[in-house]
Amino acid sequence: MSTTTELEVAVQEAASGIAKPRILSGIQPTADSFHLGNYLGALRQWVDLQEDYQPFFFVADMHAITVEQDPKLLRQRSLVAAAQLLAMGVDPARSAVFVQSHIPAHAQLCWVLQGLTGFGEARRMTQFKDKSAKGGEGAASVGLFTYPVLQAADILLYRPHFVPVGEDQRQHLELTRDLAQRFNHRYKKTFRLPEPYILRATSKIYDLQLVEKQMSKSLGGNGCVWLLDEPAASAKRIRSAVTDSGSEIRFDPEEKPGISNLLSIYSALSARSIASLEEQYAGQGYGALKSDLADVVVDVVTPLRDRTLELLDDQAHLTDVLKRGAEQASDVAEATLRDVYQRVGFVAPAQ
Ligand code: AMP
Ligand code: TRP
Repeated sequence: MSTTTELEVAVQEAASGIAKPRILSGIQPTADSFHLGNYLGALRQWVDLQEDYQPFFFVADMHAITVEQDPKLLRQRSLVAAAQLLAMGVDPARSAVFVQSHIPAHAQLCWVLQGLTGFGEARRMTQFKDKSAKGGEGAASVGLFTYPVLQAADILLYRPHFVPVGEDQRQHLELTRDLAQRFNHRYKKTFRLPEPYILRATSKIYDLQLVEKQMSKSLGGNGCVWLLDEPAASAKRIRSAVTDSGSEIRFDPEEKPGISNLLSIYSALSARSIASLEEQYAGQGYGALKSDLADVVVDVVTPLRDRTLELLDDQAHLTDVLKRGAEQASDVAEATLRDVYQRVGFVAPAQ
């Protein structure tokens, strides 16, 4: 067994000139495809940040089983998730792409952090409140309750500077920072306090039909644009998006939530400012904007979908990428965990 510490790993990396600041993020494989909210809120930033950061990106299959999953489907969706990441431009030469369950240190650090997490603190997490609301708290799993603690472990193991996510993850990032601080204070400075990386313009993409709700896997329905759907079906969903009363094309999330959401999506996908879109569509009806946006969406999702399907045709390549990713991740995660075990007072196993 190797006994490198996290500090030694950092020193080695610095010496070899590869020590860029780190980023880390994860996504659950709980649907057959990612959607436009995932893409604009988080995944696109993953790709962009690869340039200047050293990234760790993973498929959060352990988080997925906090609610019941069909095992066959979970396995398939995990591979589809990885293929979509690569298709979007996550580059295994620059990023460690892996599956969470391949790295036991996530569960091991989670256990240590659970000893530092207050029951009331976990109960305040709004995602738990939302996800357990339907069946009642009593029916929710303990795993769903401690979900944010596992997320904190995911993050802290890699000592990232930034965590690119959508707005709905902000509270989990705050808990992560609190736990890191508590551990550092109680034992010894071990963890970096990570910052959320949330782009305001796309941090919350709304459902195309229920414009007050965020686009989400669980909502599904006609208001969700799935990246792996037939592009023509996605175009249709954009063209049938609910818009607001009146006909003026103006960015005003309070008064015009439907059209403002479409403008946000349009602006993000075309790299044009909202002001220039407002100007272009002044005096035209909602139909013109929706029809043009449908074309923009088709142009984005078509190559992404083709590339994903291609990658899924070569599962040996895909699993090899995930194996290499796990090897890179494991080196870092194991080193952090060793420091943690030592600091909390666990007896080291004999060498
Ligand atoms: P989830 O689909 O909930 O596993 O989310 C995966 C990532 O996408 C997380 O970083 C979320 O914050 C982000 N995300 C999910 N839905 C949206 C949305 N409607 N708008 C913006 N970001 C989102
Ligand atoms: N909870 C995140 C979501 O639902 C997924 C996730 C798990 C994550 N672990 C993470 C995101 C660590 C960022 C960092 O989207």
